[in-house]
Amino acid sequence: MRRTLKAAILGATGLVGIEYVRMLSQHPYIKPAYLAGKGSVGKAYSEVVRWQTVGQVPKEVADMPVLPTDVNEIKKAGVDIVFSPLPQGAAGPVEEEFAKAGFPVISNSPDHRFDPDVPLMIPEVNGHTASLIDEQKKRRDWSGFIVTTPLCTAQGIAIPLAPIYRDFRVDSVFITTMQSLSGEGYPGVASLDVVDNIKVLGDAYDAKTVKEVTRILSEVKRNVPGTMDELTLSATTHRIATIHGHYEVMYVTFKEDVKVEKVKETLANFKGEPQDMKLPTAPSRPILITELDNRPQPYFDRWAGDVPGMSVVVGRLKQVNNRTVRLVSLIHNTVRGAAGGGILVAEYLIEKGYIPK
Ligand SMILES: NC(=O)c1ccc[n+]([C@@H]2O[C@H](COP(=O)([O-])OP(=O)(O)OC[C@H]3O[C@@H](n4cnc5c(N)ncnc54)[C@H](OP(=O)(O)O)[C@@H]3O)[C@@H](O)[C@H]2O)c1
Repeated sequence: MRRTLKAAILGATGLVGIEYVRMLSQHPYIKPAYLAGKGSVGKAYSEVVRWQTVGQVPKEVADMPVLPTDVNEIKKAGVDIVFSPLPQGAAGPVEEEFAKAGFPVISNSPDHRFDPDVPLMIPEVNGHTASLIDEQKKRRDWSGFIVTTPLCTAQGIAIPLAPIYRDFRVDSVFITTMQSLSGEGYPGVASLDVVDNIKVLGDAYDAKTVKEVTRILSEVKRNVPGTMDELTLSATTHRIATIHGHYEVMYVTFKEDVKVEKVKETLANFKGEPQDMKLPTAPSRPILITELDNRPQPYFDRWAGDVPGMSVVVGRLKQVNNRTVRLVSLIHNTVRGAAGGGILVAEYLIEKGYIPK
């Protein structure tokens, strides 16, 4: 029998925080033990949380108090892992403090995503970057560490592109996104910006999406020669009035003729170490293919798969010309794109010995 690990969830009342609470309440060996907040400290979790997800507040946590984001209090509570879906800016210094104090910190925030010694991890794609943890601890003289998960938008792109980039010589990928409101947290986007409208996210968001996908793909172990310098990536990003699920259209052009059936086979067969390790939050298929020409759709497909919300659904695969294939991906942004991705990272790091079992 393995021991139960105690988790602290920072920002536990936020949209990503609630997915951590929901998923960890059902987890076989990681349990929510410390729910941290900012504005609602001292109140019962069920009184203050806006449960904007499926089901209801789990019984095990309903009466737990929201506690301060305080390293000493979290230490006293005997916490083993800290999950940090804190807002940009607030997250960075807090995560450093926890890592310095010896905690493994799994962050969904952008603040440390581009530190060269901090992994930006999707375990199926670049789990091997866990080795950066040793360098990070040594360089910063920390007994703990920080691992980040990528922007939800970037994960919806990188998960299908990783096996394609692994197996084919890719020339360019042009991406258009239609992203859900929950991607901006609660209360999120003003209704007048998005009802009867499309919110254009602009150059900075387009650029950060490309920057993150570039880092992740550059860490893929490839079966074909070539480097990222040969690949042109471009993204045009938007927010639309859906609640959860980012819908992302990609036109992939190859350096030679490639049949869409080959691309489909590569995507459908994609698996990584988490599947081999049978990690509890790893779906048996990270990518699910739909053959229907009107799917995926956010409302119907965001919870797809045997670990709901953890598979990316890919469809609309089409041969555009001899070298270009179109595909569409749909990712549950607060699950695979944030909390579920963070829990999978934790399970992976436990199996790899970075977090004691
Ligand atoms: N939403 C997504 O789809 C998604 C996907 C990937 C990554 N992320 C990242 O995850 C993070 C959280 O996103 P979210 O959507 O969950 O945001 P959110 O709904 O706005 O939740 C933020 C949470 O952080 C707490 N908080 C705010 N400022 C704090 C501070 N200074 N100290 C301690 N706690 C503080 C809030 O507590 P109170 O309620 O008490 O104020 C709340 O619980 C962001 O960095 C975001 O970029 C989000």
